[in-house]
Amino acid sequence: MAQVILENVYKSFPGRKGERTAAPVTTEQLLTPVDEATSLTAEKSSHKPSSVNILRRINLTVEDGEFMVLVGPSGCGKSTLLRLIAGLEQITGGNIWVGERLVNELPPKERDIAMVFQNYALYPHLTVYDNIAFGLRRTKMNEANEQTSEQPPQWLEDALVGITRSLPKGLRYLSEKEKLVDQQVRKVAQLLQIEPLLNRLPKQLSGGQKQRVALGRAIARNPQVFLMDEPLSNLDAKLRAETRSQIVKLQRQLGTTTIYVTHDQTEAMTMGDRIAVMNHGQIQQIAPPLELYNKPANQFVAEFIGSPPMNFLTVQVKAPLLIQHSLFRLTLPEVWEPVLQNYDGRFLTLGIRPEHLSISLPAPKNLPVQVELVEALGNDTYLSVSLPELPPLQVRVPPDRVVRIGEQIWLSMAVDKIYLFDPKTGMAIRPDSH
Ligand SMILES: Nc1ncnc2c1ncn2[C@@H]1O[C@H](COP(=O)(O)OP(=O)(O)OP(=O)(O)O)[C@@H](O)[C@H]1O
Ligand SMILES: [Mg+2]
Repeated sequence: MAQVILENVYKSFPGRKGERTAAPVTTEQLLTPVDEATSLTAEKSSHKPSSVNILRRINLTVEDGEFMVLVGPSGCGKSTLLRLIAGLEQITGGNIWVGERLVNELPPKERDIAMVFQNYALYPHLTVYDNIAFGLRRTKMNEANEQTSEQPPQWLEDALVGITRSLPKGLRYLSEKEKLVDQQVRKVAQLLQIEPLLNRLPKQLSGGQKQRVALGRAIARNPQVFLMDEPLSNLDAKLRAETRSQIVKLQRQLGTTTIYVTHDQTEAMTMGDRIAVMNHGQIQQIAPPLELYNKPANQFVAEFIGSPPMNFLTVQVKAPLLIQHSLFRLTLPEVWEPVLQNYDGRFLTLGIRPEHLSISLPAPKNLPVQVELVEALGNDTYLSVSLPELPPLQVRVPPDRVVRIGEQIWLSMAVDKIYLFDPKTGMAIRPDSH
């Protein structure tokens, strides 16, 4: 087991014609969270202008035994980051440590890392047993050779194993190395509950079973670190939820440091000890799931974590505590007073989650809206409501409240659940951030 440390990691690919940077400039300005100047200087000095920056200034420490989730929209660089850690891509700048070792220049097989890919590929002509044993045979072979000296030569052993493999179990030749492999394969198969499948070929398995075999192959090697790149993306919703909890349970049992990539925020919230949210090749925030939900560092994280996403409205601040909009005005709780005095008269972005809006009575502090869409899911009802000249808002209401399309309603905001963001930088302004 080991800690994984990424220190100022950069990755750029050679640019194609007319392509200079992965991030459009406007978004870049909005989302760069900390001292942009340093980042830009580093980029200028270390990269050729013709290259495309895919990852920028990635700093991340994954603790020994931790389950870290990397989450972010498609194309933000999640797979590239995993491939850098695995050694499948060369880093452009920075350092990667696995345990005590700086692995920047080490080939993949010397990094003691096992990776489960987005499109896991099992060897179609090998049984489940041999698929799991495959990587193991190569590594365990060397260990076994070191341990025992009074053994037949390797070539003879291999030949005997090969010739007798298809015979009934008692007649098969098992070398020392093969005994170790066998023990390990069976242990992993038991752990993943795939023992009855060991003699099947991949084509005889369901998607979920294949997935578990792919996991088994990674687990069998008993690596220091697991890297998993959207391993559940090919499964249907029910199986995904099941396998999700199996992976979490397994990881707790094995205690292996794990970095798990997904673009699904539910997966991220339910699996990770901590989550690193990425966008445009940069880490936006690293925090435990509920901290991300409760204290998003910027507007991107606020919108990305939570479903349906947070609603945003532009409002004007009137110190000490008033928030004004053409449709409503409300007073924030007193904790905001020290920070709001710095923003008197300024326009800020107010954020409110769908679950923190509720149907209420006409009042100056409430929002008059018209219902455009009703989605009754049974346990919850989601509304899409419109305001004059503004994008629609999403609202979550209890299922027993009957709402009709076209109905005019008033919405109240839970004042202690209001977020404010600086519209220029996108950074969160918090009551405790003065
Ligand atoms: N070998 C390559 N050469 C050039 N560009 C690449 C290469 N590999 C990836 N990219 C680019 O790097 C960016 C990040 O890709 P990456 O696969 O890491 O995204 P991702 O976050 O894993 O997305 P997804 O969720 O869709 O899997 C993309 O814009 C992609 O086009
Ligand atoms: Mg990917």
